[in-house]
Amino acid sequence: MSFGKGIGQLGGYGKKMNIWRNKVVFITGANGFLGGHLVKRALSYKTKVIVLIKEDIRLSLFKVENLGSKCQIYKGDLSNSKLIDSIFKNNKIDVCFHMAAQTIVGIANNSPTGTLKTNIQGTWNMLEAVRNFGVKAMVVASSDKAYGEHKKLPYKEDAPLIALNPYDASKSCTDILSRTYANTYKLPIAVTRCANIYGPGDSNFSRIVPDTCRAIINGKNPVIRSDGTPLRDYVFVEDIVNAYFALAGSLLNKRIMFGEAFNFGVDKPISVIALVKKIINISGNLRLTPEIKGRGKIKGEIDKQYLSSVKAKRILGWSPKWRLEEGLKITYRWYKDHL
Ligand SMILES: NC(=O)c1ccc[n+]([C@@H]2O[C@H](COP(=O)([O-])OP(=O)(O)OC[C@H]3O[C@@H](n4cnc5c(N)ncnc54)[C@H](O)[C@@H]3O)[C@@H](O)[C@H]2O)c1
Repeated sequence: MSFGKGIGQLGGYGKKMNIWRNKVVFITGANGFLGGHLVKRALSYKTKVIVLIKEDIRLSLFKVENLGSKCQIYKGDLSNSKLIDSIFKNNKIDVCFHMAAQTIVGIANNSPTGTLKTNIQGTWNMLEAVRNFGVKAMVVASSDKAYGEHKKLPYKEDAPLIALNPYDASKSCTDILSRTYANTYKLPIAVTRCANIYGPGDSNFSRIVPDTCRAIINGKNPVIRSDGTPLRDYVFVEDIVNAYFALAGSLLNKRIMFGEAFNFGVDKPISVIALVKKIINISGNLRLTPEIKGRGKIKGEIDKQYLSSVKAKRILGWSPKWRLEEGLKITYRWYKDHL
């Protein structure tokens, strides 16, 4: 599947030259939602792609499009520092995208230590390997959740990281540790804080977009866990892939300072209920209606959260290319074809 609105230029946002050709790119969490899209783009740029995979994920872009057949695969866990070190030691890695994480808020709440281990220790294992063996650019996935809850909207990069639940706190730590290593050891590391990403190949059905698509395809009313009013920003995965390559390209070309964090969103927040109604409309299944399960806000979840992406626009020249309706249409069609 090709989406047709990539950055268009081969490598480096706004550059015609393919700065990626023959680069060695290492991607953790490659068979996760975002990881699969990064692998696909990296392959299209003719890089050599090395991936770390923890376990098979059936409904992933990586699996469905058989991307693994074109990658060098290591199987294992982020907590295995010997494995991580050996990947860096045995391959001259130019660019690293560190995506792997335990990403589900409910799992983090029920069993915090596993999440903290993967997201914090896993990140420091990666950072130690980069410190010892070097890379030319490393982009680490933090999250908008790393900010915790603030009254002042939209969130800008200088807002303090005050997360107070296990998943959010684990991402704050990922973020702080990555910028700490960049600063202390002068390493070419940047951090992304993305809004809610949606698109084909997300097999996390506790997330609103995959869950809604699946319910509609099964002829059921989509269920909303809250009262439907929480505000979020939803950004299409292709825009985020553009962002990751723009960021890595800027580190490679030394056009940005090391240790910076960047927000990436569309800066157009929408309520959960409005989002679900949009997907129902796109599906054409108009007899279905959102089923509101929650009364009031969900405990432990942020009510209103959206980002300002002005810094990414100003420094990287990045801006989102996909309208929500366009991205949702592609996403819904993908689930229809693959579920
Ligand atoms: N999807 C979003 O809306 C969103 C928004 C902001 C930030 N992020 C961040 O982006 C990154 C990618 O998110 P995603 O949506 O692709 O997540 P995902 O859950 O789809 O993928 C996570 C990947 O990490 C791997 N993984 C988990 N634990 C591991 C371990 N112990 N060792 C090795 N691999 C392990 C999984 O197998 C999977 O491949 C994450 O770090 C996430 O926090 C995602």
